[in-house]
Amino acid sequence: MNFKLSIANDYARVKTDCLVLGCFSDQKRWPGSLPTTTRKQLTALQGSGDLSGKPEETRWLYQISSVSAGRILLIGCGPRADWDEKGYRAFLGAAARQLLRSPVKTAAFALPGKVHGRAGGWHASQLASTLTTSTYRYHRTLSKPAAKPSLHRVNLLQDSSRGQAQLKAGLQRGQAIGNGINTARELGDLPGNICTPAYLAQRARKLAKGQASVTTRVLEEKQMEALGMGALLSVSRGSEQAAKLITIDYRGGDKSTSPVALVGKGITFDSGGISLKPGARMDEMKYDMCGAASVIGTMQALIELQAPVNVVAIIPASENLPSGSATKPGDIVTSMAGLTIEVLNTDAEGRLVLCDALSYAGKFKPSAVIDIATLTGACIVALGHHNAGLLSNHQALADQLLTAGRDSGDTAWQLPLEKAYQKQLHSNFADLANIGGPAAGTITAACFLSRFAEKYHWAHLDIAGVAWTQGAKKGATGRPVALLLEYLLQAAN
Ligand code: BES
Ligand code: MN
Ligand code: ZN
Repeated sequence: MNFKLSIANDYARVKTDCLVLGCFSDQKRWPGSLPTTTRKQLTALQGSGDLSGKPEETRWLYQISSVSAGRILLIGCGPRADWDEKGYRAFLGAAARQLLRSPVKTAAFALPGKVHGRAGGWHASQLASTLTTSTYRYHRTLSKPAAKPSLHRVNLLQDSSRGQAQLKAGLQRGQAIGNGINTARELGDLPGNICTPAYLAQRARKLAKGQASVTTRVLEEKQMEALGMGALLSVSRGSEQAAKLITIDYRGGDKSTSPVALVGKGITFDSGGISLKPGARMDEMKYDMCGAASVIGTMQALIELQAPVNVVAIIPASENLPSGSATKPGDIVTSMAGLTIEVLNTDAEGRLVLCDALSYAGKFKPSAVIDIATLTGACIVALGHHNAGLLSNHQALADQLLTAGRDSGDTAWQLPLEKAYQKQLHSNFADLANIGGPAAGTITAACFLSRFAEKYHWAHLDIAGVAWTQGAKKGATGRPVALLLEYLLQAAN
């Protein structure tokens, strides 16, 4: 998709297949940039009840002689007083759905109004990311891929050249974010027999190709063994696929600033291992690498933008399968940190791969470490499918991430990381157990991780409820790429 800013104060002359306009339910006047005849026509539609301006109402108008645009697409925006971030995103989403179903090749957006407290660049970024993600179609394993949408050029109309630079930067940023989200979605949607640990490693290597500021490194099992990563390796023991520890090191910022580390859970299929999961919907456990996918999508966007930040991505990648060599309940393993772990349930494997990755992250002297993981079913019970779970050992970092969630619309909600929960991880035979019982499963999982993240500021995002959708529209969401980029780009400014 091609995004462009157009300075135009006479919409009659905008050459496009489709002019996109918003309509508030209490819209009294239409923009002066529209010709008088068009404005009269729109007012007449409101009078006849054909245009109410209800949220997400869509109306196509064809062959309007007073404008050069081939069509006008009207999107209902609800009451003007309620116009907010959610409403604006709904407007963009509804417009994108309509446009992509139509033969329209080029569209020009006139924004219905500014969301209070949001700059022009934010509006532009939201527009570009929404339009970009709405073009995502899974195709890798379909013999007849869905037809490519006709829409390939979108103009953002602005009546004056004020704030041009910010708007242009916003469009560019939004497109990179959208591309990053689409990459994360594709990786998530790929089946476990294609998207293996080796496949993730290959995708990570691709990111570094021709990029002087990016270094990808892949540690093999032998090297992990030498580092003492007994927890991570205990997960891959049952699988024919070798585990990989992937790092993507991007240095776009000042040499002297320490990097942020992003650690993404990369279980390319989670059967539960010997603690085998029930069969129903087990296929969805191909999505157990969505943390890793979000990290790769985020790195891709940073590279596309050549963002002035230093970020290291660390991805522990493995399958979790049962076999004669698989780890068994009751087995005790030693982590890289030296702590011994009693594996009471082999299905609590995420924390086992993450704990060694967190120890490894310390080597980069990070200013902050954020791990992203489809870690607990309990997080879906607690927060459903709207918010990621957030736990942190540093409130300022948690606050930054919560804000980034609200700004991007990719939200998180904080849960308490209190010492009191730690005793649920008690083991008679090891330093800690890998499960904490049925109560507060998301918190005890984070408590487990916190034991390996004591040396730096750390936050954990449990994305079990938000990484993919179920049902007829089953598919990866690409969350929390938008949140992570918002956080990283805000920290850069
Ligand atoms: N990958 C799962 C968590 C999960 C389950 C995410 C369902 C999304 C949907 C994780 O590895 C897991 O199996 N967790 C267990 C932990 C339990 C054994 C303490 C769980 O949540 O049941
Ligand atoms: Mn599991
Ligand atoms: Zn898992």
